[in-house]
Amino acid sequence: MITTVVTAPISGQKPGTSGLRKKTRVFMGRHYLENFVQSVFDVVDAAGKTFVLGGDGRYFNDRAAQVILRMAAANGASRVIVGQGALLSTPAASHLIRLNKTDGGLILSASHNPGGPDEDFGIKFNMPNGGPAPEAVTEAIFRRTMEIAEYRILEAEDVDLSRPGRSRLGGMQVDVVDPVADYAALMESLFDFAAIRALFASGFRMRMDSMCAVTGPYAKEILENRLGAAPGTVANAVPLPDFGGMHPDPNPTWAHALMAEMSGPDAPDFGAASDGDGDRNMVVGRGIYVSPSDSLAVLAANAHLAPGYRAGLKGVARSMPTSAAADRVAESLGIAQYETPTGWKFFGNLLDAGRATLCGEESFGTGSDHVREKDGLWAVLLWLNILAVRRESVAQILAAHFARFGRNYYSRHDFEAIDSARAEALFAALRAALPGLKGRSFAGLTVEAADDFAYSDPVDGSVSEGQGIRILFGKGARAVFRLSGTGTEGATLRLYLERYAAGPEGLDEDPQQALAPVIRAAHEIADIAGHTGRSAPDVVT
Ligand code: G6P
Ligand code: ZN
Repeated sequence: MITTVVTAPISGQKPGTSGLRKKTRVFMGRHYLENFVQSVFDVVDAAGKTFVLGGDGRYFNDRAAQVILRMAAANGASRVIVGQGALLSTPAASHLIRLNKTDGGLILSASHNPGGPDEDFGIKFNMPNGGPAPEAVTEAIFRRTMEIAEYRILEAEDVDLSRPGRSRLGGMQVDVVDPVADYAALMESLFDFAAIRALFASGFRMRMDSMCAVTGPYAKEILENRLGAAPGTVANAVPLPDFGGMHPDPNPTWAHALMAEMSGPDAPDFGAASDGDGDRNMVVGRGIYVSPSDSLAVLAANAHLAPGYRAGLKGVARSMPTSAAADRVAESLGIAQYETPTGWKFFGNLLDAGRATLCGEESFGTGSDHVREKDGLWAVLLWLNILAVRRESVAQILAAHFARFGRNYYSRHDFEAIDSARAEALFAALRAALPGLKGRSFAGLTVEAADDFAYSDPVDGSVSEGQGIRILFGKGARAVFRLSGTGTEGATLRLYLERYAAGPEGLDEDPQQALAPVIRAAHEIADIAGHTGRSAPDVVT
C-alpha cells in the first residue's frame, strides 16, 4: 500500500561539498529525510530505475535505509541493491553503481564527522558513473526541496538486511549483497596480491586503524584474510553506530592512537587509517608521517609498479589547496596535470574523459579511475604494492622522492567552529585587499600574485568561482585560505601552507619550522587573530 504524505518544504536542505549533512536529530525530525529523498527521486525520476543503497553504519543508518527502500518502492524504482546490514563504504558503493550499470545510488554518511544521536548524519546521491552528483543536479534537488508538497512511501515491514539474498518490496526487487566481495575482487584485479602476501610473509608488520567505522570488514577480509597480515592487524575493526566515540577522521590529530604507535618503540613498518565511510586515508611509516600531498606524489611516481597501472598514467589531478608535489611528478612523466577546486566531484569529468588516472586532495583523499570516489583502502593497497616491490621503508621511499623532485613542505591549519559572521568578515576583508597585495611584503615574503581561485572544467566548460584565496609568494611558497564546506557547526577556516625546497640541502626540516615565514605572513595578511580571536589552530595536518 502506497501512502502519499502531505509535507511542506524544510529550509536548509542544500547539499554542501559532499551531500546533505546535518545533526542526526535534524535528520530524524518529522519529514526531514523523506523530503530530501523524495526530492532526489523527483529529480532523477525514480520510476523504473535501479539504485545502490548503503552507508557507513553510523547511528540512524539502519532506520534511514528502511525508509529509503520503502520510498524507492513507492516511487516505482524497479530494483535496489543494498549492502548487508545497510553497510557500504563510499568507494564500494561507487563500484557497485558502476559494476551493475545502475542509475545511481544513495550513500548514507557524514564521512569523517562523528556519529551518534547528538552528532552528524548525511546523505548523498551518486550518479550512474559512480561519482557524486554534480552541482547542476544537487542544485535541482535543493530547488525541489523548496517546493515539495508530498512524498510517497510504501507501508510495509522492514526488509531483512541481515543476510544476502533477493526479496520483493511492493513492486520492487531488493538485492541484499555482501558489501565486501565485489570491492575485494576489484582490488585484487588492480594490485599484485602475491607480492604483498610475500611481503607480509617476510615479517612485514602493519597497523590499520579502521576507527570503528566502515572499513573494518573490508580491511579484515583484504589485509588479514587475503593478504596474510597478522590477525589483529586491523584495529577498531567493528563498525559501531557512534564509532566507539571516536572522531573517524584519519589525520594526526584524530588518529592519535595510530600516530603514537607508529612513533613508539615497537612501531610496525607501516600504518594507515581511514574515515567513517572509507574514502579517506592517512598513511604513516615507522616514525614518519606522510602528508596527503606527498602521498599523492609518491603514488603517482610509483603507480606503474602495480599491475592495474602498469601501462602508465594518463594524467594526475589534484585540488588547488593540495601541494604541487604531484605536478612535479606529472611533469617528469610527461603527462597532463590538473588543478581543480576542492571536492572530489570535480575529478569526475577528468576521470570519465580519460584525462586523469590518479587524483588526490590534501584532505586525505586519494583515488583513481577504478571508481568515481576517493578510496582509502585502495591508497593503502597501492602503498603496500609499492613497498612490496621496492622493499624499502616508507622513510627511504620519501627521502628518495624528495631527493629526486625536491620537497613541497606542506601543512594545513584549521580554525574550527568560529562564528560564521566573523569568518565571513575575514573573507570579505581578504577579498577586498586582493587587488592591492601584489608587491607588498609580509613577514619577509613578497606577494607575487593573489587571486580567488576559479576553475573552468576542460571537459564541459563549466566555471566554478570563489574556490579559495591564493596568495603566491614565488618560488613555490604560498598560503591559501578557504572555508570548509563540510562542517555542521559555525565556520571552519582552513589555512593551507606550502613552501618548495629544491634540495639537495634543506630537505629534512620539520614542516612547521620550514613553513614558519609563510605562516607568519598568512596571519598578517588575513589578520586571523583580529577577526576570529584565535591565534593557534585547532587541527594541524
Ligand atoms: C569532502 C570531499 C572532499 C573534499 C573535502 C573538503 O571530504 O569529499 O573531496 O576535499 O570534503 O572538505 P572541507 O571541509 O575542506 O570543505
Ligand atoms: Zn569520507
